[in-house]
Amino acid sequence: MQRRLLITGGAGFIGANFTHHWHRHRSQDRIVVLDALTYAGNFANIEALCTTGNIRFVRGDIREYDLVDKLLREEQIDTIVHFAAESHVDRSIHGPAEFIQANVVGTQVLLDAARAAWLRTGIHHRFHHISTDEVYGSLGPEDPPFTETHPYDPRSPYAASKAASDHLVRAYGNTFGLDYTISNCSNNYGPYQFPEKLIPLCILNVLEGRALPIYGDGLNVRDWLHVEDHCAAVRLIVESSPAGRTWNVGGGTERTNIALVQDLCAAVDALFDESRTLRERFPNCPASRGARAAELITYVKDRPGHDRRYAIDSRRLEQELGYVPRVALTEGLKRTVAWFLDNESWWRGVLSGEYKHWVQRHYG
Ligand code: NAD
Ligand code: TYD
Repeated sequence: MQRRLLITGGAGFIGANFTHHWHRHRSQDRIVVLDALTYAGNFANIEALCTTGNIRFVRGDIREYDLVDKLLREEQIDTIVHFAAESHVDRSIHGPAEFIQANVVGTQVLLDAARAAWLRTGIHHRFHHISTDEVYGSLGPEDPPFTETHPYDPRSPYAASKAASDHLVRAYGNTFGLDYTISNCSNNYGPYQFPEKLIPLCILNVLEGRALPIYGDGLNVRDWLHVEDHCAAVRLIVESSPAGRTWNVGGGTERTNIALVQDLCAAVDALFDESRTLRERFPNCPASRGARAAELITYVKDRPGHDRRYAIDSRRLEQELGYVPRVALTEGLKRTVAWFLDNESWWRGVLSGEYKHWVQRHYG
């Protein structure tokens, strides 16, 4: 069946990877990407795709009802995959208001437009909402990973705004009959990730010989998932999940932050040890002067309310829909470092402008 997709936030990190992924697997489908291009959105992430006749980019805000309504009708959209959100916990601590606007109000406007376009006409449709494991709160060291029935206990303004949006999606399903699915995913990493998040931040800091800031004692645990595995899971859900279901998506790869950053440092050292060209391109990288990247690790003040541990139980998705994460963490980190080395002009562009001010404000 041919689909006509609206991908919100499709110029951001996961949304852009998903747009590439979907087009690679289903090139016959129509895709409209709607993205406001906030500081984290970057048209360059999908520019190459937009030259094909099947993909259209529209710069706009999901809170603009008239725009969303017009797009759904004129493009005869039957599937929305909703990534657009403010996504960085640290920013939500500095300014929660924007998170309520984008994540809660934005989702409600999108749901209203979908309801108006779809439910009166009875068109076969699907609203897939992208959410996070952070809605479940924080685990103790011995707790089992989050299942889909784990009670919600969001603890940061970001997590609370995502939890609210999940509730709204379910409410529109229950009250109005909207056909929806939701996925709650663990920490993603990979190409196009904005370098305010831990992994790209550390890669770029190592290359430039800058400190690697580790919050608190570095023993907080995250469950890392390569973005390509996340995209494959979302496609699987959109294509084959019954309506009204929620799916947890994880990598089954728990790491403390300090262990993860040490692995990342080792990956960079290994590449530099083998390549004179890299040592010449990045003279400030420790490996270029015979030192080790891990020497840059610096413990800094902890994030307020820092969740101790996230871990996802994806067995439902594996057993019912056949999901299998394919990218092992060591391989995924290597590939991610290689991507950043191969795409220097991308990150040089991102490192200018608003990002610079954030680093100054946040890390001093
Ligand atoms: P991102 O910040 O890289 O991208 C978000 C995109 O949304 C940007 O392109 C931005 O311009 C766009 N956007 C923001 N507000 C908008 C608005 N009002 N209207 C239109 N576009 C808007 O984030 P990401 O890491 O790619 O996350 C995408 C989704 O996945 C989010 O919903 C996030 O909560 C969820 N998620 C992320 C992770 C992760 O590890 N990054 C894990 C689980 C879930
Ligand atoms: P982050 O990438 O911001 O994702 P999230 O907060 O959604 O999990 O952070 C991942 C982990 O790394 C989290 O425990 C906070 C920690 N962290 C640092 O130690 N230093 C940093 O500079 C950043 C950005 C994060």
